[in-house]
Amino acid sequence: MDNTRTENIGTLVVLGATGDLTSRLLLPGLGRLLTEQPERRISLIGADVAPRDGRQWAEVVRAAFDSVDATGPAVEHTMAHTDYLVTDASSAEDLGQVLASATGIPALYFALPPGVTARAVRALHQHEIPEGTVLALEKPFGLDQAGAAELNRELTSLVPEDQVFRVDHFLGKSTVLNILGLRFANHLFEPLLHRDHVAKVEIVYDEILGLEDRAGYYDRAGAMVDMIQSHLLQVMALVTMDAPLSVHAADLRAAKTEALRAVRPFAGDPAAAGRRARYTAGTIGERRLPSYAEEEGVDPARGTETLAEVTLESATWRWAGVPFVLRSGKALGTARREIAITFRGVPHLPSGLDGAIPPTVLRIGLGPDAMTLELNVNGPGDPFVLDRSRLTAEFGTGRLNPYGEVLNGLLDRDPSLSIRGEAAEQAWGIIDQIRAAWQTGRVPLEEYPAGSDGPGRWASTG
Ligand code: BG6
Repeated sequence: MDNTRTENIGTLVVLGATGDLTSRLLLPGLGRLLTEQPERRISLIGADVAPRDGRQWAEVVRAAFDSVDATGPAVEHTMAHTDYLVTDASSAEDLGQVLASATGIPALYFALPPGVTARAVRALHQHEIPEGTVLALEKPFGLDQAGAAELNRELTSLVPEDQVFRVDHFLGKSTVLNILGLRFANHLFEPLLHRDHVAKVEIVYDEILGLEDRAGYYDRAGAMVDMIQSHLLQVMALVTMDAPLSVHAADLRAAKTEALRAVRPFAGDPAAAGRRARYTAGTIGERRLPSYAEEEGVDPARGTETLAEVTLESATWRWAGVPFVLRSGKALGTARREIAITFRGVPHLPSGLDGAIPPTVLRIGLGPDAMTLELNVNGPGDPFVLDRSRLTAEFGTGRLNPYGEVLNGLLDRDPSLSIRGEAAEQAWGIIDQIRAAWQTGRVPLEEYPAGSDGPGRWASTG
């Protein structure tokens, strides 16, 4: 047993252990982490209402570890120190049992729907929380700005802010973290990331995936809450923030929070700043998708959007007036996942240079992980005719997957990759304004066939 990490977490408790998130993302993330860090010693408790025994749970854990080829002493230690507790997460008594079963400092991971998480947090108030306990919460963090503020109050009356992990797995993606290196470890781009040089920034995460049996969650969230309120606003904060003093938790989180404070609907007009649509029946590759409204578990009357686009601005000296278009949707024809920074056109082209001169674009791929700079050069053939050239770098995959990075921070009690309470409220504040405009009916819910690139009139700007 390695006792050198006594300040770290001793037991990871997963509340919502029988859910999809646990088997599909959390446990594989843990498996990768334990393989990379053979010295780590972690006990694991799975807790949920479903009746399971320790052996059945161990099989689930083993299958998830096997899915990422997890091996080594840390993996075997966890396998030998894992158990399942039948737990109603909203019952103070059950949570008391969970806390009593944990060895060392516990981390409680709420892999639960927001309503159940809120009840569990309330129930925890009836207990003495062990010193150092970490509470990790999945998105959505609350359901609006007021709800996030309330949840923040309840959490920080249980444990200090640094021990509340508001998880956003995008912050564990290696290309997202790469924004820091690209911006702050090169003199080339940073001076140009400024309103004088940038015409627009797009942060796009278009998926070909449809609902994937997640109607119960997704139909209440929609694309805006599922992707933009959390992930894409975090990416925007990394693109717009000023250089932090360090990339340690306090500085990095303060810089991101400050950046989010400046974000508002473009030109201060929440109705004009957002568009929404949902898919109708269509085909993606070989797959035929029914219309969203007819998917199992969907209530069409909710008017949930499966594609959302917002145009925001960072009201700062550096960025004022530059549109930031954030967009994400399901069941689209092309998986476009990138940050595209389009620079301004040249002020004057010397006569004699012929050809189209589209603006220079820097694309940071968010999967596959790559970076491309699109330039106009005197290309092959006639040297006086301009051609488009692309400088591309492909990045290897990160040492850990995004959930592995998230868990790494959690188990080390390093909140660098988690969202500060104030930032979560700010993100909701931005989105709530646009959603309020949607509720007045001023912004129609448009349609697009599954497998297309969105509603016809949203001509792609990529
Ligand atoms: C999740 C959303 O947070 O992120 C999903 O709930 C989405 O709807 C997913 O598909 C996208 O992230 P990744 O890393 O799985 O591509």
